[in-house]
Amino acid sequence: MQTNSEYFEPSYAWFKFQVNADFVRKAVDMFPPYFAEKPASSTGKYHATWSNMKGGLRAHTLAVAYMTHSLSDAYMLDDREHDAALIAALFHDAVKYGFGCGPHTSKTHESEGAIFFKRVADRLNYPNALNEQIYTAIAFHQGRWAVCDPSKIFPDDFGKIGQLVHIADMVASRPEVRFNFLETSLIG
Ligand SMILES: [Fe+2]
Ligand SMILES: [Fe+2]
Repeated sequence: MQTNSEYFEPSYAWFKFQVNADFVRKAVDMFPPYFAEKPASSTGKYHATWSNMKGGLRAHTLAVAYMTHSLSDAYMLDDREHDAALIAALFHDAVKYGFGCGPHTSKTHESEGAIFFKRVADRLNYPNALNEQIYTAIAFHQGRWAVCDPSKIFPDDFGKIGQLVHIADMVASRPEVRFNFLETSLIG
């Protein structure tokens, strides 16, 4: 099976700054071991069939990163904001089954994911003036379905990066949506 850093190879070309691609390349291999194998949903609800099989969580993550990159022009992000949104997309479900590996997806994985991002950024001495916005985008990505915090009002509470990642996550999760570039990635 491919390592995470190998699997996410297509996303490195989407970054505007090499330093951000380099950070992600190292960071994704610090994700929990289950990340590469688990389906995007433990119940099969709210996600496309292709993401509800072995390796589906990782495939879903690449799809959300792709949608974030593709839709970023609509939000008129500058290059730094674009890369920050892409990083948030790649981290948004990094600890979807919690910090250990629970049998089910964690209902509070958005706040856990934000904490996880902070830990990894600290560990890799990753300096980015937008780290706080990346943190917020991960922490808010469940939007009105968040259970651990008061629900956030979309779009006012989200900021541009948070809005983009939330929308990209919703679009990529639609059962009708498939991504041709994932067809081969899902195997292996
Ligand atoms: Fe999520
Ligand atoms: Fe997601």
